Amino acid sequence: MKYVIIMGSPRKNGNTNAILQPFMDELRKGGAELDLFWVYDMEVHGCMACRICQQDWDHYSCRFDDGVRPVYESILSSDAFVLATPIYGWYCTGPMKCLLDRLIYCSCMYYGEEKGPALFKGKKMYILTTCGYKPEKGAYVFEEGMKMYCRHCAIEYGSMHAERDMGYKAAFMDEEKEERARAFARSILASDVC
Ligand SMILES: Cc1cc2nc3c(=O)[nH]c(=O)nc-3n(C[C@H](O)[C@H](O)[C@H](O)COP(=O)(O)O)c2cc1C
Repeated sequence: MKYVIIMGSPRKNGNTNAILQPFMDELRKGGAELDLFWVYDMEVHGCMACRICQQDWDHYSCRFDDGVRPVYESILSSDAFVLATPIYGWYCTGPMKCLLDRLIYCSCMYYGEEKGPALFKGKKMYILTTCGYKPEKGAYVFEEGMKMYCRHCAIEYGSMHAERDMGYKAAFMDEEKEERARAFARSILASDVC
């Protein structure tokens, strides 16, 4: 199995990366191949709705030659992708939102005269997130948005693992969070192998 990990946190030593590391370690232990992208390290322009991407149904095309193409190609050759992000304003971080907008148009050939294919059809999406509110409040809107996103793009929505950040004065990471991140990875491997 190949998984693309799309990391949307700006903080290399932040909370989301603290749970991402054991999660990825467990996926690797289970034999998965991983491709990791840090979105804040990439150039990702916002979609301009020019529809250049819709002119060729077989190849990636876009007015911008930036960091989106390698992510697109990596997802195309993968089984599943994981959105790892802190919640900002009830959604993913801004650069990840730009990436998701670009990937909709570049993978769904629906926006021209004819209805074309959904190129990510059958891929699976998972979410790994951290937020300040309780997960059922903090991460709920983003998860619902991603379920709609998947339905629109013929992607299979998998599941989400969310952990709460209790603020700057409390240590975020502990052994239980590490074990839950590992268990989430194992549950993904189990469901994807079946
Ligand atoms: C700009 C900003 C916006 C945030 N918005 C939300 C929010 O809407 N809901 C929420 O539950 N937490 C919110 N948070 C809290 C973060 O999601 C939380 O602290 C997260 O663990 C940070 O992850 P990181 O260390 O990987 O950056 C926000 C934090 C920041 C900096």
